[in-house]
Amino acid sequence: MHRDQQKQAAARAALDYIESGDIVGVGSGSTVHFFIDELAKLKGKIDGGVASSIATADRMRARGITVLDLNQVGKVPIYVDGADEATHHLHLIKGGGGALTREKIIAQASEKFVCIADHSKLVPTLGEFPLPIEVIPMAQSLVGRALAGLGALPQLRADFTTDNGNIILHARNLAISNPIQMEQRINQFPGVVTVGLFALRGADVLLLGGENGVEVIR
Ligand code: A5P
Repeated sequence: MHRDQQKQAAARAALDYIESGDIVGVGSGSTVHFFIDELAKLKGKIDGGVASSIATADRMRARGITVLDLNQVGKVPIYVDGADEATHHLHLIKGGGGALTREKIIAQASEKFVCIADHSKLVPTLGEFPLPIEVIPMAQSLVGRALAGLGALPQLRADFTTDNGNIILHARNLAISNPIQMEQRINQFPGVVTVGLFALRGADVLLLGGENGVEVIR
């Protein structure tokens, strides 16, 4: 199966986790694009969705799905999003699309986080993918030095501003043997808005599209 077909299969499998009357948190990225197309088939069944990025909100509206403000909804029973890397422990690196802050907010607000991806995203240890970190622009050098202190090689994502008006630093060369500890550490650096490690609140279930169908890891 082609990579896109694997993403689509994972996206389709996520529909099984959605119940009638749910408000669905919707992540960002190419796998989620497939999910939004699938979700449109359930329009009448759900009460709407909360979007993690402007691009996601635009695609949802274009498919006729009602977009709700997180502050207006009582709870988010389910959040569906992709990942750049995932482990068997359901720890993730996210933010390749730059939407990590809103993604982390909705993940935290959700009762169940269903992560969808193609099989190439499953790794034994996080960190091969350069870790995205959203940073307040004036703290770029300060945070860069703090990351270098952890042994990372920080690099600014060129020509990119997040939906929140901030920059993204990518931390390469980080050995992330303890994702929870690393998330807590980077969270402490003044100027960091969000680190793209989703370990304190990881996924509840991982749906991986592969050659032989969709593998479920929980
Ligand atoms: C977006 O900011 C990310 O967190 C995405 O979930 C992640 O980059 C995976 O994207 P793809 O589904 O495009 O691989």
